Amino acid sequence: MSVRRPEAGGAPFELIEAGLQDLATLAALERSCFDSPWSVEELATYFGSGAVVGFRLLVGGAVAPGAYALFQLLPDECELLRIGVEPGERGRGIATELLGRALERLAGEGREVCHLEVRADNAAARTLYERLGFRLVGRRRGYYADREDALRYRRGPRRGAG
Ligand SMILES: CC(C)(COP(=O)(O)OP(=O)(O)OC[C@H]1O[C@@H](n2cnc3c(N)ncnc32)[C@H](O)[C@@H]1OP(=O)(O)O)[C@@H](O)C(=O)NCCC(=O)NCCS
Repeated sequence: MSVRRPEAGGAPFELIEAGLQDLATLAALERSCFDSPWSVEELATYFGSGAVVGFRLLVGGAVAPGAYALFQLLPDECELLRIGVEPGERGRGIATELLGRALERLAGEGREVCHLEVRADNAAARTLYERLGFRLVGRRRGYYADREDALRYRRGPRRGAG
């Protein structure tokens, strides 16, 4: 898979974990990416539970502006809760890089299986997930308030394999 590098010159990428010190930044990103953004307080509750991990991307030593991903951790699986790239930074491969690296990190920690749910009309997110190996495994008709369907995707070894 060829990934368009977000920056010129091939500066190195590094995945960094987001922590409590990043809550205000994450809440601002939520507001720029989602119609129903999570507040600082909600994010604090999730992070405080210890079952949610957040990632951002360092590009050439600087935090990539406006990109984050949040996962719920289960003993041997994870669920992608949110991924967002601020509008002015989209279409440059940042989400592909961030999510690809986060999935690699989580798989290395024993969470090869990742689940997620996405609106059926979210073409950008669906393209992103399918590029990174997620397979469509289910549909909830009329799940969202505006009656749009929710699609469930799964990535990782098939059940019963190996
Ligand atoms: C989904 C999102 C994270 C993608 O971020 P991004 O950095 O622009 O993604 P990338 O540049 O890595 O592109 C990933 C793929 O999506 C494709 N894509 C981007 N915008 C698209 C669109 N509007 N329609 C269809 N495909 C699109 C890209 O072309 C790319 O595929 P390709 O490499 O085969 O061309 C970003 O659009 C976003 O933050 N959206 C709002 C929040 C959201 O909906 N999050 C997902 C649900 S939690």
